[in-house]
Order: sequence, then C-alpha cells, then structure tokens
Amino acid sequence: MPGRRILLVVGGGIAAYKCLELIRRGRERGLTFRCVTTRAAEQFVTPLALESLSGHRVWRDLFALGEEAEMGHIRLSRDADLVVVAPATADLLAKMANGHADDLASTLLLATDKPVLAAPAMNPRMWEHPATRRNVAQLRTDGVAFVGPEPGELACGEQGFGRMAEPQAILEAIEALLAPRAKPLAGVRALVTSGPTHEPIDPVRYLANRSSGRQGHAIAAALAEAGAEVELVTGPVALADPPGVRTEHVETAREMLERCLDALPVDVAVCAAAVCDWRPARTAASKLKKEEGCPPPVLELEENPDILRTLATHPRSRPRLVIGFAAETGDVLAMARSKLARKNCDWILANDVSPGSGVFGGERNRILWLRRDGTIEAWPELDKLEVGRRLAKLIAEELGGARA
Ligand code: CTP
Repeated sequence: MPGRRILLVVGGGIAAYKCLELIRRGRERGLTFRCVTTRAAEQFVTPLALESLSGHRVWRDLFALGEEAEMGHIRLSRDADLVVVAPATADLLAKMANGHADDLASTLLLATDKPVLAAPAMNPRMWEHPATRRNVAQLRTDGVAFVGPEPGELACGEQGFGRMAEPQAILEAIEALLAPRAKPLAGVRALVTSGPTHEPIDPVRYLANRSSGRQGHAIAAALAEAGAEVELVTGPVALADPPGVRTEHVETAREMLERCLDALPVDVAVCAAAVCDWRPARTAASKLKKEEGCPPPVLELEENPDILRTLATHPRSRPRLVIGFAAETGDVLAMARSKLARKNCDWILANDVSPGSGVFGGERNRILWLRRDGTIEAWPELDKLEVGRRLAKLIAEELGGARA
C-alpha cells in the first residue's frame, strides 16, 4: 500500500504500546502515519515515541492555535485515506457513537469523511456492557469497521474478549479497507425491503413485529458497496439510512407494496422486510376507549398483500432475480422449501428466529441459502453486513452469468 496515509487516533489504554509496532510494520509496507493522542493515551505511550517512529509530529490539542494555523483539524481528518482508532477504548467508542467533539481526537472523528477502522481494547465486562454493545451496534450501522477485540487474558488479569487485535491483524484490516473495491454490481438496479410494517388499529395503536431492519439495511448497504443502484423501502426502524442508498420510508404493507411497484423495473429484488401478514380490517378514526361493563374489542383482521409474491409473479416486470427470506421457528428447511415454491422466488435465505436465536435485533445471522434448483448451502454465523456482502457476490455471479 505504498503512499497511503493513515490518521492514527491513539486512545488511552494499556494496548497503546502496540501502536508503536503497528507504525513500524506499517511503514515497512509503505504506509505513512500521522498520530493524534487523547489526553489519556499519553499515560501509556509518549508522544516522543510516536513521533520518532512515525517521522511526523504528534497532534494533541484542539485549542493549540499554532497547530490550527499550521493545519486545521478538518484538514487533518480529511488528508488521510483511512482513520484508525487504536486502542478504541469504551470511552472513545461512546464518544464516536454519540457524536461528541470535546477534544482533538473526537472532533477529528466527527469531522472526517474517510472510512474509519476501530480496534477496540478494554476489560471484558466493559466490552459486554449493554452500553458498549449499543455503541458498537450504532457505529457498525454508521459504517465504522472493526478489527478485534480478541479473547485471552487481559492486563487486568481477567479473561474474555477485550484484547486489542495484534498489529499484524490491524494491518491486514487496513489493507482490506484500502484495497480498491471491485464493483461487480455496477449497472445493476436493486430493490430491497426491510424492517417491520405497522398496521394501525387506531391513531395510537398498531400491529407490528420484532424486526429491527438490520439485515435488510445491511443488504442494501452491501449491494450499494458492490456498485448497484439501490432503492430501499423500509418500514419504521431505529436505523440510519444506509450510505449511498435511496431510502423510502413507509408504515404499512400496502404502502410498501406501492413503493416497490413504483421502483420497477429492477434487476434484482431482495425482500427482507417482516411484513405483517394481516392488518385490522378497520382502523378506528379516534382512540378506542375502555367502557365500563363492555367486553374488550374484537379485532377483525384481513390479509395484507404479499409483496414478495407480487414481485415474483409480476406479469411484465418480474425482476430477473427475486430473493425472499424465511424467518421460521421449527422445521426451518421444510418451511423454507415450501415458501420458495409458493412465492415463486428464485432464492430463499432462511433463518431460525426461535426465541434465544438472537437474530431479531442482533448483529449476526446464520443463513440457509436455498435455490430453486434444490441446492442448499448452510452459511456460517456471520455479521449481518457480511451476510449482505456474501449475497452481493452471489447476485453478481448469477446476474453476470445470466448476462453472458
Ligand atoms: N413477505 C412479503 N409480503 C408479505 C409477507 C411476507 O413480501 N405480506 C415476504 C418477506 O419479506 C419474506 C418472505 O415473504 O421475504 C417470507 O416472509 P414470512 O413472514 O416468513 O412468510 P409469510 O408469507 O408470512 O408466511 P408464513 O406466515 O407461512 O410463515
């Protein structure tokens, strides 16, 4: 990677010493490093050591006017090809996830328009804490890449996940992020549905389900990353719109169907939304009230349109490849097979959503990939973005083959 520039944000953890090795080995491979330290980092590694190894001065203070005059913090954050945060402490991750900008490191991280790689390091309890889990999930959604942490014994004497990845692993992650990305889906138009739908009962109540939208959004992001022109139609979710994706927000199944039909023609449709199968037959115009002595209201339901089947049986504009999900409890394979046939789709990605599987709302997924020709492939448990990337690769192979 000769000539590629890394802005290295060194956080305040015992693993900061590994940054010296990272810089030394990275420079051997032709990378250049500019280092920024947090105040806490300097308790663990000296600016002089970082300066000597990187060959550049170390940036430390947001308010040092001389430094601002020489190189503003905005420019510092943008002059790099990649920003690496190592060690990414629990505190730095929290600041990044919440957009804080109260020192030079956090300000640079907020101001940058470059990819960010974080190498977390902390006590295992801190890594497992719900606050850190939330922050990491948010950062992944925001597009931050992670390397590590690794399991093992920590400086504090405890065992578990929390050791910073070794310099060699961080360098490999840097090289993977800097490698020019192939765009195998350039010129392909893709439609993705994601999230739950909300079906109103009255102005304040609705029917819905537990879908977080993470998998659908990750697929949209991965298809865009692979060069596709992506339209994402999403139900209500607590996620940011994926970068580079045209995102339409809807509430009900009928609105979702309408937006999807508007998006046609497309080359590929991926239906990852957990569409409510039924909606209340009538939506009350005002809030339903409890009335003394009256039995609870009975909800009469009617069936929602099946978006996947509508797309897969479209008389004029059926996408060349229609992909559905089968979220099942019980005999996943048998139910997925019957869904594939019933909905006339080409592929089904099946997953087990039994309680305890951690799929709903989680960051990882375990997929069975079924094709119309009867072949089945079990994928290992993967990060949801990795599921998206794997799918993007298979779509590119399939459409490439169909084009040829
Ligand atoms: N789907 C859809 N429109 C619906 C229901 C489902 O587009 N009204 C799509 C989902 O996006 C998913 C696939 O169909 O790709 C399967 O969804 P799932 O909820 O598992 O299947 P159902 O049709 O609800 O079948 P069942 O209730 O028998 O499981």
